[in-house]
Amino acid sequence: MTTDGTLESRLSYDAMFSGIIGQDYDMLKQLSPLATEMSRLVGIAVSEYSAAAALNVVELGGGTGITTLSILTARDAVSVFSIDNEPTMQRQAKTNLQQWVDDGRLVFCDDDALNALKNLADNSVDIVASAYTLHNFIDTYRRDVIGEIFRVLKPGGRFINGDRYALDDMAKHTRLIQQEVSRYFSVLIGAAKLDLLEHWIVHLFSDESENHVMRESTALQQLREAGFSGINLSHRVEVNALVTAAKPVAISSGG
Ligand SMILES: C[S@@+](CC[C@H](N)C(=O)[O-])C[C@H]1O[C@@H](n2cnc3c(N)ncnc32)[C@H](O)[C@@H]1O
Repeated sequence: MTTDGTLESRLSYDAMFSGIIGQDYDMLKQLSPLATEMSRLVGIAVSEYSAAAALNVVELGGGTGITTLSILTARDAVSVFSIDNEPTMQRQAKTNLQQWVDDGRLVFCDDDALNALKNLADNSVDIVASAYTLHNFIDTYRRDVIGEIFRVLKPGGRFINGDRYALDDMAKHTRLIQQEVSRYFSVLIGAAKLDLLEHWIVHLFSDESENHVMRESTALQQLREAGFSGINLSHRVEVNALVTAAKPVAISSGG
């Protein structure tokens, strides 16, 4: 896949995703253009990882397969272990991405993220990648997941997460959420999808609740406390951003 940002590459990317992921992708793109863009950015970050050998990637919250597809097409020598504990979502990914399962490059796991990570060996994974999954977690669960991500990554391995990172400026954050709600209403009333509108609004209340919201400074501090270095937040657009972090090659013994 061409990973530059040219119009031509964007069109072929969208065409491929619409073809493989189907209607879900088209609706998500209208509702939240940045959500589909973030999967593309996660794929690019995987493609830029410098290790020469084949990569094994653990994906948290594969959903219908949008991010999974972006990772699989990022480079040839990559295999994905895609975790999602919601069967309805994972069933769609299994249908959409059967070709990669047949090629031996994709394995699905239906456990929850924390349990699945706990079952993986120390220092065994090149990249843990995810999009729009960690913000769904309760903060204490998320802290435990981050700790497990650090444990399973090989020294030098990467954590790549495209997600909703709430702004530290709460007034600005609230204004962005209000604009987001307005967009849901105009797109979904226009498409006569009131059931989906209800679902998104209800879900947004969960995302924004105090024990879920993944505020930028707290989230980056959580990564530092887990031991990550090279922590970088980039590509912020509204409440969305890409976060990358590395497990140091030499881990200090503390003291
Ligand atoms: C919003 S979707 C994101 C899907 C895809 N990555 C994307 O960007 O379109 C979040 C996914 O995370 C999954 N998920 C949420 N909590 C989870 C958990 N604790 N363990 C595993 N999967 C989880 C949900 O089932 C859902 O499929």
